[in-house]
Amino acid sequence: MYSQAKVIAGGLAHIPVVIAVFYFILTTFNKRALKFVEQAKTKKPESKALEPKKPVVSKAENSKIEAQKTETPKVTKKKHADVPVNIYRPKTPFEGTVIENYSLLKEGAIGRVNHITFDLKDSDPFLNYVEGQSIGIMPAGEDANGKPHKLRLYSIASTRHGDNFNGNTVSLCVRQLQYEKDGETINGVCSTYLCDIKPGDKVKITGPVGKEMLLPDEEDANIVMLATGTGIAPMRAYLRRMFEPTEKEKNKWNFKGKAWLFMGAPKSANLLYEEDLQRYLADNPDNFKYTKAISREQQNTKGGRMYIQDRVLESANELFNMIEDEKTHIYLCGLKGMEPGIDEAMTKAAEEKGLNWSELRPQLKKAGRWHVETY
Ligand code: FAD
Ligand code: A2P
Repeated sequence: MYSQAKVIAGGLAHIPVVIAVFYFILTTFNKRALKFVEQAKTKKPESKALEPKKPVVSKAENSKIEAQKTETPKVTKKKHADVPVNIYRPKTPFEGTVIENYSLLKEGAIGRVNHITFDLKDSDPFLNYVEGQSIGIMPAGEDANGKPHKLRLYSIASTRHGDNFNGNTVSLCVRQLQYEKDGETINGVCSTYLCDIKPGDKVKITGPVGKEMLLPDEEDANIVMLATGTGIAPMRAYLRRMFEPTEKEKNKWNFKGKAWLFMGAPKSANLLYEEDLQRYLADNPDNFKYTKAISREQQNTKGGRMYIQDRVLESANELFNMIEDEKTHIYLCGLKGMEPGIDEAMTKAAEEKGLNWSELRPQLKKAGRWHVETY
């Protein structure tokens, strides 16, 4: 029989054996583990199981990746993000040289409207622009408080290639503002300054600005234009882009849609760019339609002055057939005062087609097909 003391002594005698076995297992495992780590350090991972879960990158590389993550543009591209704006601001305007300044009016016309072209080639950064934008002009001199005059905006009347097709000029179509006050004739500051400047004069220019009146990219878009007076300026640029042969060679924009210009002027002698428009009409009878409202020579059905809204009503059916086509864009430019009249005419014209203009207009606006720039 085993005594208690014998059992204890036997147990104690096994302790060195257990420790030895334990030590053996531990060292063997450690050696293997070290070998494995060394292999992992020197060799490329051979199997998926050995691939690190995350790529090992340095701190510097990591911060680069993080920066790229935040810089990565969103998938939804900002609309017209590539259209240039505010290359020159009022504090640092570009001084452009006047190339030409001539009257657009015929004998017997009312007032003064000039076509003025500036040389941009010395601008650095280059003052580039696209059709439908405006530039700011800072008239020379000071206001009544002795401060420099504030800038006035003018719609650009040339295409991005300029009237000489060299891509380094910009043109405007400017009416001199004149009104009577207390028996005195008041001349607008900037419009008079612009109508009076001479070739060689330097003029402070800012901009370009504006994304409201841009043309769509689609070559098969239809373009309806409603203009009064100098509101023809952006339309002149559109029509040159569509129909002027040398301009077309430059821009490679093969316009295939329909362009319809409604033009309001007080007298025939006040029609602007008329020869060019007649040429476009003769050369492109299937793509261009030109409807005039000559307010002081023609009468509407009520015996009043003929305005473009009266012409819109006359053409209601054809016009709304076009508007129902989602490829059609409508551009309105010129006198602010024409807006209510155009709205009224569109309401009536829409009714004739069983449509509701107050519902349709916001839809067109939202779809980017209703473009307004009035002043
Ligand atoms: P100012 O000396 O500034 O006088 C104008 C002020 O005179 C008005 O603010 C008003 O207070 C007063 N006034 C005006 N008429 C009367 C009146 N009948 N009775 C009493 N007071 C009156 N103009 C163009 O010619 N061509 C363009 O292509 C063109 N594009 C434009 C585009 C945009 C986006 C905008 C906003 C305007 C555009 N204009 C354009 C208008 C232009 O910016 C000027 O407003 C215009 O030339 C008059 O400026 P001014 O310095 O000659 O007149
Ligand atoms: P009118 O002056 O005979 O009343 P311009 O800028 O060369 O004067 O041309 C502007 C044209 O717009 C003119 O024929 C002018 O007519 C016309 N017009 C004036 N007021 C309105 C209006 N509220 N709606 C549409 N056309 C207008």
